[in-house]
Amino acid sequence: MERKWWHDKVAYQIYPKSFFDSNGDGIGDIPGIIQKLDYLKDLGVDILWISPCYPSPFADQGYDISDYYDIHPAFGTLKDMDRLIEEARKREMYILLDLVVNHCSDEHEWFQKACADPNGKYGNFFYIENRKDDKLPCNWRSYFGGSVWEPLPGHPDKQYLHLFHKKQPDLNWENPEVREEVYKNINWWLDRGLRGFRIDAIINIKKKLPYKDYPADRPDGLSCVDHMLADAQGVGEFLGEMRDRGFASHEAFTVGEVFNEKDEELPDFIGDNGYFSTMFDFAPVVFGGSSKGWYDRKRITPDDYKRCCFHSQKRIGDIGFLSNIIENHDEPRGVSYYIPDGETSLHSKKMLAVMYFMLKGLPFIYQGQEIGMENMKFSSIDQIDDISTIDEYHVARNAGCTKEEALKCISLYSRDNARTPMQWDSSENAGFSSGKPWLNVNPNYNNINVKKQWNDPDSLLSFYKELIALRKNPLYRETIVYGDLIPYLEDRHNLMAYFRKGERTLLVAGNFQKKSQDIQLPQKCQKVLLNNYPNADITDRVLHLKDYQAVILEL
Ligand code: NOJ
Repeated sequence: MERKWWHDKVAYQIYPKSFFDSNGDGIGDIPGIIQKLDYLKDLGVDILWISPCYPSPFADQGYDISDYYDIHPAFGTLKDMDRLIEEARKREMYILLDLVVNHCSDEHEWFQKACADPNGKYGNFFYIENRKDDKLPCNWRSYFGGSVWEPLPGHPDKQYLHLFHKKQPDLNWENPEVREEVYKNINWWLDRGLRGFRIDAIINIKKKLPYKDYPADRPDGLSCVDHMLADAQGVGEFLGEMRDRGFASHEAFTVGEVFNEKDEELPDFIGDNGYFSTMFDFAPVVFGGSSKGWYDRKRITPDDYKRCCFHSQKRIGDIGFLSNIIENHDEPRGVSYYIPDGETSLHSKKMLAVMYFMLKGLPFIYQGQEIGMENMKFSSIDQIDDISTIDEYHVARNAGCTKEEALKCISLYSRDNARTPMQWDSSENAGFSSGKPWLNVNPNYNNINVKKQWNDPDSLLSFYKELIALRKNPLYRETIVYGDLIPYLEDRHNLMAYFRKGERTLLVAGNFQKKSQDIQLPQKCQKVLLNNYPNADITDRVLHLKDYQAVILEL
């Protein structure tokens, strides 16, 4: 694997709407991000991925873009973005934006023009089909519920394809003019000083054509789009072209949102000269998923989590570099999800941090993760903003769940858990905004906030700073960034342990339960590099791990 400038970095995801509001309108903004750059620098992060901040009607919170060349006024202006890029550069930090090009907004001028003249140039920017009788071109179900087909506004005889929401019409990547537009936009941003992109829903750009039905997987007679995607061949041609025409000239850093890639495709995706620099490891995220819906999902256990991580590490080997996460804006809070119910504590939060952060790959921290923000307690579906959660609530109800059961299941998985405003301090609205926040603040902000943790050496925030500093410590950097990952005592219940072997040998071990457990060390411990307890109890090469204790040892 070729070495790259970004391998030893730490990345941080900002969901701009909920990060920091500088002007009191209840919506986070770019000047707010600039104000917090020193906080992020002090934390130790280098790469900042900012979720979409382009003009958008916000049907899917900005993942429905109506202008790829501007900034939504609620977030600021292009000048603000230029300033952010420049302020980040001064601090040796790098800005990534979200590249959302599987679809645009139905309010984008391309779609408006397609509606005005479906047979003209822009009609071919989308997938538009004639309506014959009542038969749809295929039975694919969109990710946010219902058919992927929607009548084309103003043309009752036509319909268009949307794999996500109906306000997110899919762009027709088979059309070279669409691809040219995408490359033009990528280069326009890179020319402005952007360092790269997180690339949204990118596997979806290749459809299996001609349209055909797949076996129905729910009583609605529809079939999840994933079945079609597994069958679609040739996405690599588009991705290779996008790399060469879009990213290559600026050596952009790219992280792909890639699901369901096959083993044999890994070198093409993230090997040397892959389509992307890296891609997220979603193995723990998708674990337990059900085609029936969230209500039927299997909850992940600590042993499942460990197996998912080790499996991903094994399959990637030395092919490339994965990006590791425990949460993002589409997922519940990691500490509420991966730690069994009732066991969330400062110790268990620190243990989870160690376990994922020390995996081989690029660690991403999602805003608020560093202070241990937790899932929200929703008491009614009316408190939910997210379209996907609302859809899943109805799926659960239609499958026979009571209101309480449906609310319980969506509360566990809702994307809104991660979208509540960042908790900066214990003042009103958690110091996020002087106005009314667009989404309710989690009421636990008095206990969980940045200000409270910043000067507390025992806080989760201080622990994250130590973890980041360890990754950058010249003595351990080589081992942590490039050392092999070798599982240890892999089958031991509720224990996650692995070696990182390079210039040095480190053992990372976490007791994923309240009950203590002992593990035999294969070699003498030279030094305890990090510990979420004041002491590491090692006698005769036996390490005694307490309730959710995690240690990083040098052997
Ligand atoms: C993945 C994004 O992370 C998610 O938030 C969005 O809803 C879909 N892609 C569609 O863009």
